[in-house]
Amino acid sequence: MSSKIILLPGDGIGPEITAPTLELLEALGTGFDYEEHAFGGAAIDAHGTALTDATLAACKAADAVLLAAVGGPKWDTTDPSKPRPEQGLLGLRKGLGLYANLRPVRPLEALYDASPLKREVIDGTDLLVVRELTGGIYFGEKTRSADSASDLCTYTRAEIERIARVAFRAARRKVTSVDKANVIETSRLWREVVRELHAAEFSHVELEHVLVDNAAMQLVSNPADFDVIVTENMFGDILSDEAATLTGSIGMLPSASLGDPESPGLFEPVHGSAPDIAGMGVANPLAMFLSAALMLRHGLGMEAEAAAIESAVDRALADGLRTRDLGGSAGTHEATQAVLSNL
Ligand code: IPM
Ligand code: MG
Repeated sequence: MSSKIILLPGDGIGPEITAPTLELLEALGTGFDYEEHAFGGAAIDAHGTALTDATLAACKAADAVLLAAVGGPKWDTTDPSKPRPEQGLLGLRKGLGLYANLRPVRPLEALYDASPLKREVIDGTDLLVVRELTGGIYFGEKTRSADSASDLCTYTRAEIERIARVAFRAARRKVTSVDKANVIETSRLWREVVRELHAAEFSHVELEHVLVDNAAMQLVSNPADFDVIVTENMFGDILSDEAATLTGSIGMLPSASLGDPESPGLFEPVHGSAPDIAGMGVANPLAMFLSAALMLRHGLGMEAEAAAIESAVDRALADGLRTRDLGGSAGTHEATQAVLSNL
């Protein structure tokens, strides 16, 4: 039976990077059964909410969910009573129990000069950000009055332990646990739980604890020193955008969000909906292609096909493919052809 994939093209450049991704998957002979749903701003326009119950139910019943991007100026608001596209994303992550967000950062030599960082700083970097995705300040109770507002940050021992376990399992040499244990109470619990799990089950892996401000600095001054970085929701959000500078563009970073083995994973690029270039045919589709590769690997157990996409992307870039975000002039179509011809 063919795997069922829910497609959520979303907003902005989302639809125009989703279509070529399907071309790529088809070229591999995957024969998936696709079902597309409006999501984010598109769903607010169509149904008044970023994530409908029907879409969530369809995602729960699928084998994997492939999402492009959500958001745009049309739905930007600071009014807490108005729907926002991002609520769809957060609702989906929570609704599917996707607590582990994997963001691999693997700069390619061909793109070293597209990065604002020096090539000798980037050289040798191959790291994985493991971001906790369903807890912390993103999901705590929020209050708002005319003159004050608050966001509660909560973590339980169980939430910290399960994400730390993902990080230790993924490590090849070291886990860097990032927190703010010198100030924040949830970080103190985080550090204790990571330390205890390490001692009990993973003492063969090196573990270090780094404060988030220092981690932010080391990420751009000594990135090759990291292997797996594990951190809470908001720190992971910030550090993964910073890490994108290592790859030359945020248009290069894919991500996988995983929960318990029986729930479908969600695969999406780290970049946003880029409303400024939407509809122009110039969006870089590579992070989306690489997210499809992560879907094949982590969501569907198709390692050979995943590796085929990744190496086709690598070779296209080595052959000189450069979209605008990488300092070139290739459009979405040209980028797609370049990858297809290397597949
Ligand atoms: C990300 C994004 C989201 C997040 C936004 C769009 C809600 O920045 O996936 O990194 O903050 O998690
Ligand atoms: Mg982000």
